[in-house]
Amino acid sequence: MKVPTNAPWSSQELDSFFYQPADSFFRGNPGLSLTYDDVTLATLYSEILPKDANFETRLGSGLDLHLPIVSADMDTVTESRMAIALALNGGLGLIHYNMPPRQQLSEVSRVKNHIHGLIREPIKVHPEQCIGDVLGLIEEKKFSFSTFPVVDKDDTLLGLLPGHCVRPRFANRGVGEAMIKRDGVLTIRESDLGDDPIQRADRFFTEHIGIHKLLVVDADDRLKGLFTLSDIERISQERSLQTKPARDSKFRLLCGAAISAPRKADGSIDKVQLLNHVEALVERGLDAVAVSTAHGHTLGVGEAVKAIRQALPDLTIIAGNVTSAAGVEFLAKNGANTVKVGQGPGSICTTRVVAGVGIPQLTALYVCSQAAREHGVTILADGGITKSGDVVKALTLADAVVCGSLLAGCPEAPGQILEINGKFYKQYRGMGSHAAMKAGSAARYGHAREVSQKSAAEGVEALKEVSAPADTVLAQLAGGLQSGMGYLGASSLTELRANARYTRITPAGLRESAPHDIIEVKTGG
Ligand code: XMP
Repeated sequence: MKVPTNAPWSSQELDSFFYQPADSFFRGNPGLSLTYDDVTLATLYSEILPKDANFETRLGSGLDLHLPIVSADMDTVTESRMAIALALNGGLGLIHYNMPPRQQLSEVSRVKNHIHGLIREPIKVHPEQCIGDVLGLIEEKKFSFSTFPVVDKDDTLLGLLPGHCVRPRFANRGVGEAMIKRDGVLTIRESDLGDDPIQRADRFFTEHIGIHKLLVVDADDRLKGLFTLSDIERISQERSLQTKPARDSKFRLLCGAAISAPRKADGSIDKVQLLNHVEALVERGLDAVAVSTAHGHTLGVGEAVKAIRQALPDLTIIAGNVTSAAGVEFLAKNGANTVKVGQGPGSICTTRVVAGVGIPQLTALYVCSQAAREHGVTILADGGITKSGDVVKALTLADAVVCGSLLAGCPEAPGQILEINGKFYKQYRGMGSHAAMKAGSAARYGHAREVSQKSAAEGVEALKEVSAPADTVLAQLAGGLQSGMGYLGASSLTELRANARYTRITPAGLRESAPHDIIEVKTGG
């Protein structure tokens, strides 16, 4: 690096000497691999208010995210509920593959068919019941509502039981006698909901004063769902505050799914099985397939990616994981659009301990980002993200981040809540842990399907304290990202990448970076 000689140094010389852009910073530290907590970013002159920072990102043609966050394809993180939450917040969920292929297809369908605000399985009653039965149901299930659609055994709509009739004084009266008959109930055909069902329902409630429920029916008048005024009002209010949901050209939520590279008995890739499943996923509307393994720079992953690319030229393919430029080039040349970068940074990973391999994440991202630019692909920073500051640092080099641990405690993550000593937890396990490999992910780590205790596990089983819903966790990450962009004067992720200036920090600097020498008071705010 050029050392300025003429004293005194100008402000610009001082700043650029001490705080360096990616190329001089990482190339000036060869042989030294750094991760998020090893560096901090320098602030820059800014005219950008955090609220104006825009973090749209494009992962593949047609795969545009409004929030550069992807939920990890892990069996304790992403099934349809988490994928729906991610897409509603502008990101992408990758449905894991530790489940039978048919179940993975239904999980994808659930995301693609999700209509925000539409209650798909409303609680229904039947005309032959009496109002006492309905009161019993409300009591037993602790429902906070008392208006119910009335249907026959085939779900054909017969009427609506209004809340003002559901009272103990009418307990012996029949539902059929009390309900508003079919011709007095306003409904909408599912096919008339259009591109923006929320807006359609919102208009309906404005046009029909005093009506609080809108029933959705199919062409045969069977009940298909229900909108409530209060849900629509809440969603419409949130809409003006939140980032846009990530949708496809048919206005459906985006959804990704992971697959492994299935092998035949002789060890070669089973292309027929692979393509049958990926084609079935695409028929359900899948937007991106992730060929997700621990070591992506391998013959098997290359062949799998190539086979999918040849069969489905337009599908966005995510592949990984790698940490080298050669790995990125290899996957790009085989047809991947997006490459997952990360070997060993994950909170539940033991790859570096067990195998002694893997690269600290920021250096891996820098090296891979150089190759990605050269070969026209994007990269995902996968693993090791523990706070919003890490997201900002990762996005100075990557196009989006993959989060596991940060989302595993959310109610939307699969799994039961466990209570231990008065605290609530959810299970979170590495896909390379013995338990997860037995459930199906062994191929991801290059092991045979029958996992024995001798197969070296590369992940641990753990617990995460139950956290806020995904909406809240994602909003906090998005808020931190916007702050970071504001400090760096970046109105877009492209500007964030161009503006980033790095400096290394010491353990003392790291200690200084978090609250210290105080007793923190939790206000619950
Ligand atoms: P975080 O830090 O967000 O990381 O919890 C999630 C990422 O970790 C990877 N992963 C593993 N890596 N052994 C590993 O070496 C494992 O058992 C394992 N399970 C998940 C994966 O890339 C995920 O997105």
